[in-house]
Amino acid sequence: MKVCMIGTGYVGLVSGTCFAEIGHDVICVDNDKNKIDVLRKGGIPIYEPGLEELVGKNVKAGRLSFTTDTRAGVDKSLFVFIAVGTPPKDNGEPDLSSIEQVATEIGAAMRDYKVIVEKSTVPVQTGTWVRTVVERFSRHSKDFDVASNPEFLREGSAIDDFLHPDRVVLGVESKKAEQQLLELYKPIDAPKIVTDIASAELIKHASNSFLSNKISFINALSIICEKSGADIQKVAEGMGLDKRIGRAFLNAGAGFGGFCFPKDLKAFIGIAAKLGYDFRLLKEVENINEEQMLRVVKKTGDLLWNLRDKKIGILGLAFKPNTDDMRFAPSITIIEALRKEGAIVKAYDPVATERAKLVMPDIEYCSSPYDVAKDVDAIVLVTEWDEFRQLDFHKIRDAMRQPVFVDGRNVFERDKMAELGFIYAGIGR
Ligand code: UDX
Repeated sequence: MKVCMIGTGYVGLVSGTCFAEIGHDVICVDNDKNKIDVLRKGGIPIYEPGLEELVGKNVKAGRLSFTTDTRAGVDKSLFVFIAVGTPPKDNGEPDLSSIEQVATEIGAAMRDYKVIVEKSTVPVQTGTWVRTVVERFSRHSKDFDVASNPEFLREGSAIDDFLHPDRVVLGVESKKAEQQLLELYKPIDAPKIVTDIASAELIKHASNSFLSNKISFINALSIICEKSGADIQKVAEGMGLDKRIGRAFLNAGAGFGGFCFPKDLKAFIGIAAKLGYDFRLLKEVENINEEQMLRVVKKTGDLLWNLRDKKIGILGLAFKPNTDDMRFAPSITIIEALRKEGAIVKAYDPVATERAKLVMPDIEYCSSPYDVAKDVDAIVLVTEWDEFRQLDFHKIRDAMRQPVFVDGRNVFERDKMAELGFIYAGIGR
């Protein structure tokens, strides 16, 4: 089937490529000429394991192409996906102007029946506006359906998440659109939830805020564990075995970040407020998360007595492993707070260093964890990259000025670290 994917950001590029991978003809459109040039030359503008190979494979097979020409993309396709950005405005509300712009362009370009699908994360009721705008700007044809098909991709495992999802959510307003979308997703073996557009839009926000809720819950619980001598890992394991709860997303740590959770949470609180409901539970989820990042700083301070002029080495900067994404990364909040206390920060990340330099130009960046360890008073692990599990800890300890290790992701065992001579603190243990 013929698919036009408008927006080659994270969601658009992964989704477009994966649609090609399952056999569809895909044209990806972006108004950023540089991006399209990079893609045409076989490069990819983001870091996502396996994506470059998959793009190359599908371009070669003639199923995937790139253009800046929206009209051409719309003309050739039955499905037109809107996957442009909805960045937060200063007040936390998503900026939907790109969606509006794309809707006007689709309206103007349409010549026959299209299924126009929202892929971007948008507030409930956006579908109604998309319909209105497309209709107002349509020149040649008014034959179209609007649908909502939210994505649940996680950075670092986005391809697998697309090809093997827990579910596919399809919000539709007609039987015709439902049938077309079910056909499009036929190669994907997963439960398909067909519903109205508003419910589909809500499923996305509800899922993300529920997951944030789980993380803040376990992080709050980690404080109780610390105060009562319990071990958060065991508590999470014990809770997680209850099928109604589940073990996933119960890892206590230095807080959640990334471009989705913090942004979507804020947006959802705003959406609820607009609809007349004060979603206090989610406000607290946000507060707990903010505090959790600062608790890592406090822990470090408590182990060093004073932070002023202390050298602190940070392991991991990206908001989570297997990505170079620094957006809303907990490392930013933690480093800022450490520096505010007068500490001197050096840091290492396997892939996010270049991006981190753009956000934090004036800290020292190191080329290995061993460089980070050199002469520091403490190491703070913020992102649990796999390579940190294999470190030579004798070498690390010997390089440090004081052997203080704050494990912001509970990667290591307290007893083993103590045996190795570290003064160790995890989260909730
Ligand atoms: C998330 C959703 O999982 C995905 O469905 C949605 O489409 C986009 O947002 P992503 O932001 O890529 O994906 O990352 P995810 O793996 O969900 O992690 C988000 C943050 O939560 C990370 O900072 C991570 O470190 C943190 N986290 C996750 C925890 O602190 N504890 C956990 O148990 C799980």
